[in-house]
Amino acid sequence: MRAICQGQILAARRVLALLDLRSHFPVLERTAYLNAGTCGPLPRAARTALDDVYSLAESEGRRYPYWERSLALHDRLRTAYAAILGAAPDDVALTTSTSEGVVRVVAGLELGRGDEILTSDEEHPGLLGPLVAARERHGVTIRSAPLAELASAVGPATKLVACSHVGWQRGDLAPSFASLPEDVPVLLDGAQGAGAVPVDVAALGCAFYAAAGQKWLCGPTGTGMLYVAPAWQDRLPAIGPTYLSFVEPHGPIDTWELRPGARRHDTPTLGAELTAPAVAALDLLGAYGWDAIHTRARELASALAAMLRASGRTVAPRDETTLVTFEVDDPPAAVERLSAAGVAVRDLPGTPWLRASVGAWNTEDDLERLLGALT
Ligand SMILES: Cc1ncc(COP(=O)(O)O)c(C=O)c1O
Repeated sequence: MRAICQGQILAARRVLALLDLRSHFPVLERTAYLNAGTCGPLPRAARTALDDVYSLAESEGRRYPYWERSLALHDRLRTAYAAILGAAPDDVALTTSTSEGVVRVVAGLELGRGDEILTSDEEHPGLLGPLVAARERHGVTIRSAPLAELASAVGPATKLVACSHVGWQRGDLAPSFASLPEDVPVLLDGAQGAGAVPVDVAALGCAFYAAAGQKWLCGPTGTGMLYVAPAWQDRLPAIGPTYLSFVEPHGPIDTWELRPGARRHDTPTLGAELTAPAVAALDLLGAYGWDAIHTRARELASALAAMLRASGRTVAPRDETTLVTFEVDDPPAAVERLSAAGVAVRDLPGTPWLRASVGAWNTEDDLERLLGALT
C-alpha cells in the first residue's frame, strides 16, 4: 500500500514537472499531436534559433563568424546526441537521417556475394532500401526472421544483423544480442528509439546505431546521428569522404588524414539552419530531464493501450515503448476523420492498423480526444 502511494506520488511529481513542457510546442495548442514517430512537434525555441541564424547571415553575410558558429554547433549537437545514446561524442557522426546512417554502414562494410545480412520481417523501408541496394549491386543475400528471434537466427554466412531497436509498426523492442560472435556486428535502426526510450549503446551490444533528429528529439528534418562502436571504427571505411572528413584538408594531399573516431562519417554539409534548431530543441527537452521524459511518455503510451483495449479495440502486441498500434476498419479513412477532429496519427500501409506516437508533451486529454474521435 505504502509502495503504491509512493509510486503515485512520484508519478504525480513527474506530471507536474512536465506540465509546462507542452506550452513550448505551438502545434499542441489545437491538435492532439500523436505523430512524433513520423516527425516530432517543433518547439518555438527551434524557430527562434533558426531566425537567429538567418538574422546573422542576412546582416553580416555568411562570413567567418557564421562559419565558426556552424562548427561550434556541430560540436554541441554531437555532444547532445552522444548523451542521448549513452556514447562518447567521438563515437557519434552527424548525419541527415536514420537512413543515411544505415547507408553508411551497409555500404561501408563492403559486403559481397556469399555474405548475408540478417534482418527482421517488420522493418521500415529506411532500413530495407540500403539492404536491397547491397543485394542488387553486390549480390549480398538478405534473410529475415521475426525480430524477437534474430539473435538465434544468425548463421555461418551472416556478416551483419540489421534491425530496429524499436519496431516502427508495433513498438516492439529488439532482443539482446549479447550472445553473438564479436565479428558479427549489429546495426540498430534507432529511429523510434533515440529520444523515445532510454538508449545505452554499450548495453545494447550494437556496433552501429543510426537514428533521427526530427522524430522524438523534435529537431528539423535533415538531422540525425550514427554511433560507431570503437571496435568497429577501423573496420568501417567512410563512404564518400569529403574535405571536412579530413583532419587538415590543406597542404600536400599526401599528408591528409581522415578524422579519427566516428567524425569521418559526418555528412558533408550540415548548416547552422539545421543544427541550431536541433540544438535548441535538445536543450529544451534536456532541461526537463530525459528520465522524466522517457518515463512519462511510456506511462502515457501504456495508458492509451489500456484505454483502447477497454473500449474493445485490438491493440497490436507491443513492448514498453512510445508507440501504440491498434486496429480500425479503414485506416486511411480513419486518419482523415481523426485529422478533421484535430487528432494526428498515422496509418501503416498494407495493415489494418493505426499508430499513435505518445510523447511526454501529450496529456490524458489528448488520449481522450483520440478515443472520442474514434467512436
Ligand atoms: C524504424 C524507422 N527506420 C527508419 C526510418 C526513416 O527515418 P529517416 O527519415 O530518419 O531516415 C523511419 C521513419 O519513420 C523509421 O520509423
